[in-house]
Amino acid sequence: MSMMSIRTATARDREAIRLVEEHAFGQKAEAGLVDALVESGDTVLELVAEEEGQVVGHILFSRLYVDHGNRRFPAVALAPLAVEPSFHGSGIGGALIREAHVRLKQAGEKLSLVLGEPAYYGRFGYAHERAGGFDSDYQCEALQAVAWGEAPASGKLVYAPAFSSELAA
Ligand SMILES: CC(C)(COP(=O)(O)OP(=O)(O)OC[C@H]1O[C@@H](n2cnc3c(N)ncnc32)[C@H](O)[C@@H]1OP(=O)(O)O)[C@@H](O)C(=O)NCCC(=O)NCCS
Repeated sequence: MSMMSIRTATARDREAIRLVEEHAFGQKAEAGLVDALVESGDTVLELVAEEEGQVVGHILFSRLYVDHGNRRFPAVALAPLAVEPSFHGSGIGGALIREAHVRLKQAGEKLSLVLGEPAYYGRFGYAHERAGGFDSDYQCEALQAVAWGEAPASGKLVYAPAFSSELAA
């Protein structure tokens, strides 16, 4: 019987998180993005999933702004999400997203964006239809959003600077 638990990431999890990200993506770019987002203070929520004391999953939401004229609306960006490959398909990714959404809503967040597989993120409320009106360098079918209240459906998406520096390569 699985004993998976989810909790807020702490400073002591950094190395374990780096490993999960590297194993899940098979490259270092996402682990580097995580480090850069944490260092720049752009993280809104970061959770880890543990199995028997071992970090096997990680999710991060960073601050993202929707700029519209002289208005700036604070939203969040889900990236990255990673689960240790040997634990894929056991519900850890989904549990991390659901728990994060509960906490984000409690904290008053109204809008979340993700760039990912619609067949996966659609399960958690994300839809391209909700994101198609935004002006973004990442605009495509994989750009999806979920809103938990009144939030803009147009405007320019401004991601944390780490996205352009860490994933540019
Ligand atoms: C994507 C990822 C986080 C999912 O984690 P997980 O713990 O395996 O996911 P869950 O167990 O909650 O869900 C598994 C389900 O999602 C589906 N799924 C997983 N990845 C998918 C994808 N890229 N596209 C469509 N469906 C996907 C599985 O087929 C499975 O479907 P089922 O429930 O019908 O059997 C994990 O596969 C991973 O770390 N992948 C590598 C990194 C990555 O791609 N991250 C997402 C970046 S956008």
